[in-house]
Amino acid sequence: MRYIGCKSNLLSHLEKVVIDQLGIKKGTFCDLFAGTASVAAHFKQRGFRIISNDLLELSYVFQRALIANNEEPAFARIAPTLGDVSRESLSSNLSPYHNVSST
Ligand SMILES: C[S@@+](CC[C@H](N)C(=O)[O-])C[C@H]1O[C@@H](n2cnc3c(N)ncnc32)[C@H](O)[C@@H]1O
Repeated sequence: MRYIGCKSNLLSHLEKVVIDQLGIKKGTFCDLFAGTASVAAHFKQRGFRIISNDLLELSYVFQRALIANNEEPAFARIAPTLGDVSRESLSSNLSPYHNVSST
């Protein structure tokens, strides 16, 4: 997916500023304009508690998937409706950055 303004390419720089230069290694990370949630997901992986926000419903979906979820979804309600589709194929490539490209 192409998303104008996605910050995936800046994540190492942002981490350097927040963690190395500012010395903030834990606490709450607030992403007010989350977009693809790539920045919030990155800092979640580094142990920060996340507050994220965006006015777009598309972003809400990313935030639910990458921030609110703390474990692989079971797809318990949809799986029985999918016939031959394996559960593994539903959850493959669930990396936070899968199909999120930068501009
Ligand atoms: C440049 S994008 C954010 C990119 C994000 N950091 C990423 O890596 O995907 C800016 C985001 O700000 C959101 N936005 C703009 N104005 C807003 C507002 N007033 N309240 C909440 N979100 C807003 C847009 O919906 C958009 O998703």
